[in-house]
Amino acid sequence: MPYQIMYSSQAATPMTISGLEQILIDARSGNEARNVTGALIYVDGVFFQILEGDKDVVSHLMTSIASDSRHHSVKVFYEGVVDAPAFDSWRMAYLSPTAEQMSAWAGLPGTATLETLLDDIDRDPRRAPTILVNVLKALAQ
Ligand SMILES: Cc1cc2nc3c(=O)[nH]c(=O)nc-3n(C[C@H](O)[C@H](O)[C@H](O)COP(=O)(O)O)c2cc1C
Repeated sequence: MPYQIMYSSQAATPMTISGLEQILIDARSGNEARNVTGALIYVDGVFFQILEGDKDVVSHLMTSIASDSRHHSVKVFYEGVVDAPAFDSWRMAYLSPTAEQMSAWAGLPGTATLETLLDDIDRDPRRAPTILVNVLKALAQ
């Protein structure tokens, strides 16, 4: 059974396009080697990442990502086995959603920040799958 970890973190400095690109290059090559898939979302200094793969591999990778100096305040707020990986077509998908998109993902009216979305999952982890489905829909557009 694949294992999934979701975490959030704060960028050490506001990310530039090339800084983000470098993280995605590192993530995609590292994940290719480890048979890990997932998605990375970055909005206004906040990262939200979903990692999926073999439990030991993903847990070990999470430890190494957490010690990366490009971000801090890493908070894992969901981890567990899943029936199937959600992002198996992506070594590391990337999205930077708008405030409207994020509120729609959370089923909230108006606009939302990534923090609102993460608080929502934190308060009620049963909402995580719905939000993931909406992330997948956004990737498919
Ligand atoms: C926000 C963020 C997300 C990252 N995601 C991944 C990832 O999904 N897979 C990965 O291999 N490395 C990822 N990295 C990079 C790792 O922290 C690390 O630099 C990379 O795995 C190389 O580590 P190594 O030199 O110990 O192999 C990420 C880094 C940051 C800052």
